[in-house]
Amino acid sequence: MSDDLIKDALHMIPYGFYAISTTDGAGEVNIMVANWLVQASFTPRMVALGLARKAYSHGLVKTGRKFVVNIFNKADAEAIKGFTRSRAKNPDKVANATYTLSPTVGCPVVEGAAAYLECEVRAMVDAGGDHDVVIAEVVNAGVMKPGKAEETLTLHDLGWNYAG
Ligand SMILES: Cc1cc2nc3c(=O)[nH]c(=O)nc-3n(C[C@H](O)[C@H](O)[C@H](O)COP(=O)(O)O)c2cc1C
Repeated sequence: MSDDLIKDALHMIPYGFYAISTTDGAGEVNIMVANWLVQASFTPRMVALGLARKAYSHGLVKTGRKFVVNIFNKADAEAIKGFTRSRAKNPDKVANATYTLSPTVGCPVVEGAAAYLECEVRAMVDAGGDHDVVIAEVVNAGVMKPGKAEETLTLHDLGWNYAG
């Protein structure tokens, strides 16, 4: 334990680890990594994503109002690692990536992904924090490698942390 119990407790929450792809709807796309993602409604099916206000992807989501969640198997962890740095620090990260555009919202489906969720933004909540909460309806999905959650890549598989 540290002297920051809020941090200690937040570090006890388990997370998946995803590549979030975005578009401005006018041809520009980006891909970033994120773990702050949960399902947030059954009817309609929604997800909530904590999205850094300073991220390049934030601007694209604000304009394009859509994104794709790329879900990977543990065995394909290498496929996501190229997207961990920001667009500002790695301007070629998308140019160097292999992907196709998803059929409904037109965001990148990254090569190696096991499944994807196509999402349309219904609300972007600015509660005064450094991340907005983006609430989006899942309007379509694809499953390339059917599997169970136990096989899905998590943040903890990589020994990384983004919380606290
Ligand atoms: C392990 C890890 C987990 C991350 N999780 C999130 C997250 O859940 N939400 C978020 O907005 N940023 C998250 N980030 C930070 C973004 O990836 C970072 O802000 C990145 O610069 C965004 O890329 P972009 O500027 O190209 O959009 C995470 C970074 C790492 C390394």
